[in-house]
Amino acid sequence: MTAAGQQTAVNVVGEAARRRSFAVISHPDAGKSTLTEALALHARVISEAGAVHGKAGRRGVVSDWLAMEQARGISITSAALQFSYGDAVINMLDTPGHADFSEDTYRVLSAVDSAVMLLDAAKGLEPQTLKLFDVCRHRGIPVITFINKWDRPGREALELCDELVERIGLQPMPLTWPVGEAGQFRGVRDCLDGTFVRYARTVGGATAAAEERLTSDRAHAEVGADWLRAEEEADLLVASGGDFDPAPFFAATATPVLFGSAVLNFGVRHLLDVLVELAPRPTPRQDADGEPRRLEAPFSAFVFKVQTGMDPAHRDQIAFARVCSGVFERGMVVTNATTGRPFATKYAQQMFGQQRSTLDTAYPGDVVGLVNATALRVGDTLYSGKPPVRFPGLPSFAPAHFAVARPADLGRAKQFRKGVEQLGSEGVVQVLRSDRRGDAAPVLAAVGPMQFEVAAHRLETEFGARAALERLPYTVARHLDDPAQRTLVDTGRRSEVLTRADGTDLALFIDQHALGVMRRLHPELALGSLVAGAD
Ligand code: G4P
Repeated sequence: MTAAGQQTAVNVVGEAARRRSFAVISHPDAGKSTLTEALALHARVISEAGAVHGKAGRRGVVSDWLAMEQARGISITSAALQFSYGDAVINMLDTPGHADFSEDTYRVLSAVDSAVMLLDAAKGLEPQTLKLFDVCRHRGIPVITFINKWDRPGREALELCDELVERIGLQPMPLTWPVGEAGQFRGVRDCLDGTFVRYARTVGGATAAAEERLTSDRAHAEVGADWLRAEEEADLLVASGGDFDPAPFFAATATPVLFGSAVLNFGVRHLLDVLVELAPRPTPRQDADGEPRRLEAPFSAFVFKVQTGMDPAHRDQIAFARVCSGVFERGMVVTNATTGRPFATKYAQQMFGQQRSTLDTAYPGDVVGLVNATALRVGDTLYSGKPPVRFPGLPSFAPAHFAVARPADLGRAKQFRKGVEQLGSEGVVQVLRSDRRGDAAPVLAAVGPMQFEVAAHRLETEFGARAALERLPYTVARHLDDPAQRTLVDTGRRSEVLTRADGTDLALFIDQHALGVMRRLHPELALGSLVAGAD
């Protein structure tokens, strides 16, 4: 390697080590938007959360990342928010979709190195959090838990921690413990050094909360019973295996736990510090042959999300790729491993212009938005240099909603077919077929029903082909391991077999009961489970 080459390698490894790329997983209303804003506030990318008071305004700013970028001049793609905190570069990936909970959300998790599981102190683990946690577990993603809304009445801290063990088998390792029960929040005990971090309210949580650190003795004298109780409870948990240990955290069998209030900005700085100090940094990603791709190898990335129509005037398509190795430089020509064709990234420049100037260069852990990327599909690998590299494709998840799609206007059947193929290849919905149903009426399958609405809307607006969707009663999908057993399941009454575009045979059942009956009737039936998801 030349001296310059060595210098670049050192630089890439150093830059990667500064990156923390994570997503927040939560159930709607747990406070993800509020926490996102509070984190950004602490990183001083926005000066005052108060600028976005009120639900309508706040949602506008936080969920509409482009508007936020324009207003604040920070680097955002619609998929990721990037900001620096101290010496670290934080990439916070948006897990979209409250209502439109879909595969999109799952795929984002393939692009992160850790996740923050955000819980509402009054509710604990909720259904969508559980689904997302399942994906994290499946992928071995380390999870940090933030128990939010401690400023108002909720459940007991110990009870919430027990729930982690009992329901998802995750050992809680408290890094902070709340002082004052939910609703009477005074601060936290720092479990690593035993000090009391006292928070002072700022008006409406408008600015980062003031913090004061007190020794245990002073806390005892000033706070009394609440302090003693916090000490006792935290010690109890530590004694039952909750002492902080990075190894089980990295192995995703234990989770550091913090308590706070996003709306009051309590505990948010602590969370950022924990992310910087403890969260995993980008590591070599395994390629399709199982070989780790060194961080300092030439540029490589994989596409985890494709989004169309961000700018309605241009019907553009943006592909979001996570950098796995090397340096991305705007304008470079890379190869798409799926097609073997070159892909010129100069278009990124045209669209992003100055506002996204930080995308001039990107390092492992960063997210790059590529404009006019009509040739790119979810799961594609991009690389430069030699030899070629290809990362494993992204998993498709177990769908739980199914609908037969037909063109509403037979004169537009060709456009309809083309549109369905396009949506399938982008991963907007899964497209299933069978000989019995024929080619003209494919079955669309989705993890979340909102995916159908998106598909129908896009078929109409982009392909001029209105779709007539007829919902099917199936709710449970299994992998049919042996094609020879197809006829056992494919009765078309309470179960059916359809083949996905990737060649997977899916056995669909109207409910768990129908699946159980089938299993009893045919004990020899080999049915595997599909990744994560709906059942
Ligand atoms: P989401 O993105 O996860 O859906 O949640 P979001 O941030 O929109 O928060 C949902 C509701 O929870 C909001 O209230 C928000 O203010 C509130 N919230 C978030 N964090 C905290 C917290 O730490 N403490 C308390 N007490 N509330 C919190 P809302 O009434 O729906 O809207 P708003 O009018 O208050 O903004």
